[in-house]
Amino acid sequence: MILKAYNLVKEYTRGNQPFEAVNNVSLEIREGEFVCLAGRSGSGKSTLLNILAGLLTPNSGKIYFEGKDYETLDDLERSYLRNTKFGYIMQGQSAFSNLTVLQNVILPYTLFKRDGDPYKKALALLDRVGLRHLASQYPATLSGGEKRRVSIVRALLTSPKLLIADEPTGDLDEETTREVMELFVSAVKEGTAVLMVTHDMNTTPYGASFITMKAGRIEEKF
Ligand SMILES: Nc1ncnc2c1ncn2[C@@H]1O[C@H](COP(=O)(O)OP(=O)(O)OP(=O)(O)O)[C@@H](O)[C@H]1O
Ligand SMILES: [Mg+2]
Repeated sequence: MILKAYNLVKEYTRGNQPFEAVNNVSLEIREGEFVCLAGRSGSGKSTLLNILAGLLTPNSGKIYFEGKDYETLDDLERSYLRNTKFGYIMQGQSAFSNLTVLQNVILPYTLFKRDGDPYKKALALLDRVGLRHLASQYPATLSGGEKRRVSIVRALLTSPKLLIADEPTGDLDEETTREVMELFVSAVKEGTAVLMVTHDMNTTPYGASFITMKAGRIEEKF
């Protein structure tokens, strides 16, 4: 297992009324596993993903990534983990407006230096999702789906151990969705595990496992 999470709870308060957005969730993800997460709007999917990505601290529960307890990591170690081991495609747009498409995509390399030339791979991935010609453009001039593909390429560039994707194809057409899913499947073949929120069970790959959430809890696993 690369990721193990036990009894995660995240409590929020709305109108003085506390409620559990994530309520006692446990899950494990194997290396190279493709896990699809579904559930009604507001069921806690994005909250769970933010907790697993180390961006949000749960009220209780334990998370281990490659055997390391999140609680023992300081901010720099968490940031290192996010930029080297994780790819996170957030729900909504997450491109930086003052960076070009190419600069956005190689950002994880800029933040934490490592071996290899990111440019070649970045341009090849941009090509695979039909964005090569936009490499030197700024996000403001891109469509919603184009910006989404920039985030997808950025998350895949580091060949992450775990790719967390929150409705990555929500605003893409059928053909672009297929291109993106092919990228995910190639990443999985190279050992990346994927945790993907999706409402479209038709686009999920063969061999994937499924988790459904309801009101903060895991409803089903299959
Ligand atoms: N910062 C916050 N403060 C208070 N409540 C929050 C906060 N963030 C999320 N919530 C609430 O927690 C619940 C779970 O939200 P979450 O974003 O995880 O849902 P989701 O399953 O991702 O929904 P969607 O499919 O619409 O993206 C919702 O009721 C939401 O309104
Ligand atoms: Mg969400």
